[in-house]
Amino acid sequence: MLDSVLQEGINEVIGTTHLNAAPMGVILRGGRHTLALFKGSHTAENIIRDGWFVANLIHDPVIYVVSAFGDLPDDTFATETIDGTPMHRLAAAEAWIAFRADVIGESSEAYSILLTPLKEEMLQHQIHPVNRGFNAIIEAAVHSTRYIMNHDPELEWLIRHHLALAKKCGGEREKEAAGMVEGLIREFVVEESI
Ligand SMILES: Cc1cc2nc3c(=O)[nH]c(=O)nc-3n(C[C@H](O)[C@H](O)[C@H](O)COP(=O)(O)O)c2cc1C
Repeated sequence: MLDSVLQEGINEVIGTTHLNAAPMGVILRGGRHTLALFKGSHTAENIIRDGWFVANLIHDPVIYVVSAFGDLPDDTFATETIDGTPMHRLAAAEAWIAFRADVIGESSEAYSILLTPLKEEMLQHQIHPVNRGFNAIIEAAVHSTRYIMNHDPELEWLIRHHLALAKKCGGEREKEAAGMVEGLIREFVVEESI
């Protein structure tokens, strides 16, 4: 097996599939990589059709928010041909790892995906000091993807809490990402009340 750039536990990466990107949690336990993949996303559709997935490591909170709620332009992607198959990764990834992706389980809501590493590359060697603002954006984004579906007031409270932390502890990119999440939530609340 390849030496994974990922660590034991859940790695919140940007997952790329055919010209698509979205935050995804790659689970690494006992040397095995898996993904709990909810049905209905472009990522799920592409993985089922194409059988590959790339985990991108990138420390940019804005990319997490934009890719969670919208689409990145096509020129965000770079193509890597692995075992004869063209696969898309983020051009700006600090590191990436390409996987073969096989369905090993299915419920009414989600697939369980086994990821088999094919190739990995580390493009940048940067240190990222621990920053609560960056982590808070990840939390706010996770809660927001659920909030826009169920409008749970408890989630709204958590999102606001994490946005406040992001603004207090983050740098400019965290503040920009926080503003984007705030805008999305506001838009959603207005749409719901019409
Ligand atoms: C940090 C983070 C982690 C996520 N992890 C997963 C995951 O492991 N599995 C999943 O199905 N969705 C996950 N999501 C939700 C997807 O990113 C979200 O549904 C997204 O809109 C899918 O985009 P797509 O339609 O372009 O694939 C996560 C979201 C965030 C913000």
